[in-house]
Amino acid sequence: MISGMYRKFLVYALLILLPLPTTGWSGDEIVDGKVVYDRECQVCHGTNGMGSDFDWKTPLDGPGLRYPPPPLDYSAHAWHHPDSVLKGLILNGGKDGRMPPFKGKLTEAQMDAVIQFLHSLWKPEQLKWQQEIGQQQPR
Ligand code: HEC
Repeated sequence: MISGMYRKFLVYALLILLPLPTTGWSGDEIVDGKVVYDRECQVCHGTNGMGSDFDWKTPLDGPGLRYPPPPLDYSAHAWHHPDSVLKGLILNGGKDGRMPPFKGKLTEAQMDAVIQFLHSLWKPEQLKWQQEIGQQQPR
């Protein structure tokens, strides 16, 4: 009886504790790009890279012309950047500090997996351009 209640308590405790956000990853072994994206990027860049609720081309009010996070799918221009640039941005974050750096937070494999996931959101001709021409242009 008591052990039964105890077990029940344990299950509830686990259910409550498990989804708590941790600092960093509990599992570096997770290299599924969509899982990584949903956990680390979706909050700003929206479901499947479709962007936030704000129009990314219209600055939010206030000084400094801060633009909302852009979509990362085919509708904006993440695909204009070669993978090396995307990786650098994910590693070091954006210049004005609104996009956080993921160095030390995600493994190299996880960053590569996220980039592969971004590829899957682009149109075939965009991906082709990014792979063939984009990679040759320093950006
Ligand atoms: C706290 C919000 C936030 C989070 C979390 C975030 N980003 Fe960003 N991201 C931004 C903002 C704001 C910009 C645009 C300004 C800039 O480049 O710094 C941006 C820009 C980008 C760009 C450049 C897009 C372009 O068209 O040039 C890419 C690619 C990108 N983010 C990928 C990611 C990935 C991948 C993740 C998750 C690993 C992520 N971001 C997490 C806010 C965020």
